[in-house]
Amino acid sequence: MQRIIIKKVVLSGRNFPTILTPRSLSTLAQQSPPNTSSLQENDEFVPHMPPFDYTPPPYTGPSAEEILKKRQQYLSPAIFHFYKNPLNLVDGKMQYLFDDKGRRYLDAFGGIATVCCGHCHPEVVDAIVNQTKRLQHSTVLYLNHAIADFAEALASKLPGDLKVVFFTNSGTEANELSMLMARLYAGCHDIVSLRNSYHGNAAGTMGATGQSNYKFNVVQTGVHHAMNPDQYRGIFGSDGPKYAKDVEDLITYGTSGSVAGFISEAIQGVGGILELAPGYLSAVYNTIRKAGGLCIADEVQSGFARTGSHFWGFEGHGVVPDIVTMAKGIGNGIPIGAVVTTPEIANVLTRRNYFNTFGGNPMCTAGGLAVLRVIEKEKLQQNAFTVGTYLKERLTSLKEKYEIIGDVRGRGLMLGIELVQDRELKTPAKVETLYIMDQMKEMGVLIGKGGFYGNVFRITPPLCFKKEDADFLVDVMDYVMSKM
Ligand SMILES: Cc1ncc(COP(=O)(O)O)c(C=O)c1O
Repeated sequence: MQRIIIKKVVLSGRNFPTILTPRSLSTLAQQSPPNTSSLQENDEFVPHMPPFDYTPPPYTGPSAEEILKKRQQYLSPAIFHFYKNPLNLVDGKMQYLFDDKGRRYLDAFGGIATVCCGHCHPEVVDAIVNQTKRLQHSTVLYLNHAIADFAEALASKLPGDLKVVFFTNSGTEANELSMLMARLYAGCHDIVSLRNSYHGNAAGTMGATGQSNYKFNVVQTGVHHAMNPDQYRGIFGSDGPKYAKDVEDLITYGTSGSVAGFISEAIQGVGGILELAPGYLSAVYNTIRKAGGLCIADEVQSGFARTGSHFWGFEGHGVVPDIVTMAKGIGNGIPIGAVVTTPEIANVLTRRNYFNTFGGNPMCTAGGLAVLRVIEKEKLQQNAFTVGTYLKERLTSLKEKYEIIGDVRGRGLMLGIELVQDRELKTPAKVETLYIMDQMKEMGVLIGKGGFYGNVFRITPPLCFKKEDADFLVDVMDYVMSKM
């Protein structure tokens, strides 16, 4: 574990201490370790960022203040940002990001579980650039090998009869399409989704989403939200089949007895990295199929090797869905999504014209194919498993040290840490979450947050994250918490 040593600082502040001036702390965290023989009685450890052999080119663009001003004037007031002093990120390389001053940050959020191979991975960049130089866009009305090659490679990663691919531009669009197909196939409208889920922000997917803070007050028909098999806050703990009974009841009492389908994440991402209770999905899939519905796995966050143990999140539950939706990790940051289903289900879209201008665009699909190749070549699933397991163990030991950590969960490089003011009552520690995140940023670590109450740290870094990065992250979190 690499650390540097600094003189102890006097802490001040009313609610929370100011550790050090932000600039000096982050500078210290990035310096080379000093000679430990100079250690004196009052010295203390400050975590030290692992070395990384890359210096971005100098930044000559507008300042953070100028960008913020323009953003406030010309962009949606609904756009928010993290941190008291929002970061102006201008460069990225693998698991690191750089701000306008050239300061390096460990990226443990991965652009919201999106960057899987690493920022600006050279093989992904080359694939995109080479394809863009030849042909950037043509539409699927003409032939091009890029879309067919990627569809073939993607289908090879899915089990059973899941062999037909539709490309979209986002996760929202993929989920919209999946629900449309389920409704057409089953010949009815009702869909069962989970409370605390997030599936997108268009008409249908907002309906499927199960969190009021993402639902506008507009018509959202035909979705029934089942009890969440939440192992931390749910009334049945980790007993999956008990929660599954609620889906049976919903169908019996809330529908005609038939449903179009069921949509769920294997690990709820936006909802706070909640892994569905074991035994839940297999029981619910049986119930849904008996009611004539299709089972949709939303793999937007948990897909593409992120969970480490499996390539897809649903595989961790021993089920095979009828439709799988994906986005984020599929393109390492390129705007692309996909729906994969069986030939029989795919056939429903031949009843009318289904067309998507950019879906399957050569540039995006060439990039997507490169992503799949990098995941395999660099054994990123294995790395997510090894580093993720190690990181989870270290975070779990922090839980023994700090009462504020109510739960550590997730798998692979999709981990969550829920902060509570009181372990018994599980009162969400919302303000503390923001404070710790902010201080960690000042020390050079970027993490995400989520959960219905905004009190869960989301750790979803690029899958090339190393053991030393995991150590740095935990040491920084430990350091910040120790000052509270
Ligand atoms: C599980 C899940 N499904 C769907 C979406 C929507 O994806 P997009 O933002 O690409 O539309 C998200 C986005 O966070 C997500 O986490």
